[in-house]
Amino acid sequence: MQTQSLTIRRPDDWHLHLRDGDLLSAVAPYSARQFARAIIMPNLLPPVTTASAADAYRSRIRAAAGEGFEPLMTCYLTDQADPDELERGFREGIWVAAKLYPANATTNSAHGVTDIARLRPALERMQRIGMLLLVHGEVTDPEIDIFDREAVFIDRVLTGLLRDYPELKIVFEHITTADAAKFVAEGPSQLAATITPQHLHLNRNALFAGGIRPHAYCLPVVKREKHRLAVRAAAVSGSPKFFLGTDSAPHLRETKETGCGCAGIFNAPHALESYLTVFEEERALDRFEAFASEHGARFYGLPLNEGTITLEHSPTTVAEAVDAGASTLVPFHAGETLAWRMTS
Ligand code: NCD
Ligand code: ZN
Repeated sequence: MQTQSLTIRRPDDWHLHLRDGDLLSAVAPYSARQFARAIIMPNLLPPVTTASAADAYRSRIRAAAGEGFEPLMTCYLTDQADPDELERGFREGIWVAAKLYPANATTNSAHGVTDIARLRPALERMQRIGMLLLVHGEVTDPEIDIFDREAVFIDRVLTGLLRDYPELKIVFEHITTADAAKFVAEGPSQLAATITPQHLHLNRNALFAGGIRPHAYCLPVVKREKHRLAVRAAAVSGSPKFFLGTDSAPHLRETKETGCGCAGIFNAPHALESYLTVFEEERALDRFEAFASEHGARFYGLPLNEGTITLEHSPTTVAEAVDAGASTLVPFHAGETLAWRMTS
């Protein structure tokens, strides 16, 4: 018989862009409705590089999201990353991790790291104090084909990081390839990965289905079908090294539907229903709770959430657009019907 409802421990989102100002106010409630905590990406303009900026941003998020949602802040690493500032913010409980964006890899990463060697003092300190490193795992070398940038990052950067900092916990964010799934599954226990809903649902044909589809464009870009299948297998495998991270990355409609559209998919409104659809298709509903609510917290060394949420097997129609101040956002699955609905 078909499962009619699923009650799980309250989940967390281990990779989220909430932006700031009006956009923050528009999007934060969607995440707060589903998740108890979220790792907040620091790629604002200017980026969040100081503990005081992170502290102030956290207050704005709390105000926008309301009670019951805890933003877990991150530091944006630059070539000038200061080990003392990292340690201070970590010890004061302001941030839990630092994010490595290779310079110009993605949205608002112009201040990112140009050469990993420059991060040695910062990474040594993080390793010593137990602060996690989150990586956007793509090389930025324009000679490398965009569909190969994640796999090349494993060889050129990640392998060396794991070797040089064997005690540093690293999250390989939003993995998209069979290469990454295998590397993480077989890698040391210091390594884990987040997986987004879009990389479970879409392959690269989605970018060109009947015409160019800006709302299917994110970074790392969606890949071939064999990669999507490998990432799905990793997500439902039950391995504690894989956990939920939506990478919900809202951009106003007019900045997506344009001659040079922004990278990022706004999946926050129905993230859990989207993931759950995949777990059902893969006959792995019994593994969903661990992926959504346990593996991430354990890897971060944080307590599991109290309380539960319930999803029912009944259709959810996703809106074509949602309001964001004077403009709109087009959510992931816009206009589609998902088989599950979060009820409480
Ligand atoms: C993110 C954004 O818009 O901030 N975009 C994206 O396509 N995922 C940045 C990122 O996580 O790469
Ligand atoms: Zn992201």
